[in-house]
Amino acid sequence: MKKSATSLGDAKAAGRLLACLTAYDYPTARLLDDCDLDLILVGDSLGMVVLGYPDTTTVTMAEMLHHTRAVARGAKKTFVASDLPAGSCLTPALARENARLFRDAGADAVKIEGGLECLPMVEAILADGIPVIGHLGMLPQRVIEEGGYHIKGKSTTESDSLLRDAHALEQSGVCAIVLELVHPPLASTLTKELKCPTIGIGSGPDCDGQILVLHDVIGLFPWFRPKFAQPRADVAFEIQRAARAFASATKA
Ligand code: KIV
Repeated sequence: MKKSATSLGDAKAAGRLLACLTAYDYPTARLLDDCDLDLILVGDSLGMVVLGYPDTTTVTMAEMLHHTRAVARGAKKTFVASDLPAGSCLTPALARENARLFRDAGADAVKIEGGLECLPMVEAILADGIPVIGHLGMLPQRVIEEGGYHIKGKSTTESDSLLRDAHALEQSGVCAIVLELVHPPLASTLTKELKCPTIGIGSGPDCDGQILVLHDVIGLFPWFRPKFAQPRADVAFEIQRAARAFASATKA
């Protein structure tokens, strides 16, 4: 049976950690569906690791929906969430309309990057019965304004505003909050203070779960490897090994 949004909160209540990965296509989603994951995210990271863009800022709704449909066809048991891409939730009405498109494409939830400023959009989507995952800390959709990927929450001003954002998101009813590149002591505090689960990426070990981009875990994007992601396979090498073996056998 398909897991629901409440299964994330139930895991935190039971003291069970959440393991989450991204997927962007049917075969990967189908493989991951049997791997005891708590969440498959169709992240807008697909812009970088699948489509070859320099960052996630230009990923479109059409691209996200195309990949969401493929993942939803493969993930029959695992909870699937999709990222609302940059510019897709500028007003509550637009956010609701786009969240509905994700639901119709097969996503069980949507994820929104941002804090207090996103509350009206989060509330509009939740009012429609679509679960929402928050995303705080480093917000890749704002990487250009921010001038790079930096740890968030080291200064008192930043940590106070992250605490305010996280509590406001929790009160609005999000089912989990992704903490990206949040200073680990602050991620730990947030995890203790919030009832809803925190899912960390580059935010230290004390979150209620961890999420990684699949390509970083399986070694499928050798051109960039974030420091916090431990590769557990070298699929890039295997692809080239098999392709070269085929090429040389064919040409011989
Ligand atoms: O786009 C993405 O893949 C993400 C995470 C890995 C959290 O937002």
